[in-house]
Amino acid sequence: MKVTVIGAGNVGATAAECVARKDMVKEVVMVDIQEGMPQGKALDMMESAPIHGFDTKITGSNEYDATEGSEVCIITAGLPRKPGMSRDDLLAKNAEIVSSVTNQFKAGSPDAKLIIVSNPLDVMTYVSYTASDFDPNHVMGMAGVLDTARYRAFLAMELDVSVRDIQALLMGGHGDTMVPLPRYTTIGGIPVTEMLDDDTIESIVERTKGGGGEIVNMMGTSAWYAPGAAAAEMAEAIIKDNKRVLPAAAYCDGEYGLNDMFIGVPVKLGADGVEEIIEVDLSDEEQDLMQTSADHVQANLDNLERLKSEGAIG
Ligand code: NAI
Ligand code: 2OP
Repeated sequence: MKVTVIGAGNVGATAAECVARKDMVKEVVMVDIQEGMPQGKALDMMESAPIHGFDTKITGSNEYDATEGSEVCIITAGLPRKPGMSRDDLLAKNAEIVSSVTNQFKAGSPDAKLIIVSNPLDVMTYVSYTASDFDPNHVMGMAGVLDTARYRAFLAMELDVSVRDIQALLMGGHGDTMVPLPRYTTIGGIPVTEMLDDDTIESIVERTKGGGGEIVNMMGTSAWYAPGAAAAEMAEAIIKDNKRVLPAAAYCDGEYGLNDMFIGVPVKLGADGVEEIIEVDLSDEEQDLMQTSADHVQANLDNLERLKSEGAIG
């Protein structure tokens, strides 16, 4: 079993380390365009193996030969945002990068499941899907696991309870229009609405929506510990075929009234990738929020097509 991580920067290296520490695959391969960097990080991680106690072999490369036969590929290659930038500002540059790395990876691992991380997430997942020509259920974006983790962490901080007892659902695109769903949020099985007042829940929902930007404003670039851990959790669900129910950017073909786009929805994740999109009942208000988020993703997809037709993207 092999997991490839393309882009060995902050998120990619963290994801690779998280996968290795789960000790669930024979090899993790990191690929990056920077010479020496993935090799150096891989060696550093290998030297931590005796301390952490994992046997997964970690290698780094600037070529794709080493990735052949991968079960899972996590794509993090691309630019991260800086203060004042939105995820959407990365569209043109990252589309070229994600398309190029997918093209270089796909022939050696035609059965791989692709987990896209690069931003703007929902559109980059579509870019990788079209570049790969893989089955749509073998391509997915990582955002919901991260955004839900932020939401759960903020709830745990507010309530002073264990994060392990907080279950939550969040849908929509990875951006300010994401849709945390308090109606599907429980604390040890108790609806969150029984434990927190509406204003407190609303402020936590708003903090979650701006969770990525909060960190960008603090340190000048985007987060990596939680994003890397989130991508590794999705890889684990696929490698172990344990049918986790997680939010992921999945290809909608009529689900939730949405067509031909990747957007955050609850899915069953196993060896065959997105094995099912779970359709939960949404109230009229929740469905409206989901549609607003989908409209934002669609606008970005349209923008991508426009840039392509103008020749701004190859
Ligand atoms: P980073 O700058 O630390 O790492 C990006 C890496 O990609 C660099 O090492 C760079 O050399 C590499 N790269 C660039 N072009 C490449 C190519 N053609 N082939 C191979 N490698 C290439 O950035 P960071 O913080 O790791 O973020 C990576 C991406 O993930 C960004 O687009 C960021 O916005 C996104 N992100 C998405 C999240 C999500 O929830 N979906 C969360 C956090 C970040
Ligand atoms: C994040 O949510 C910027 O997408 C990145 O941290």
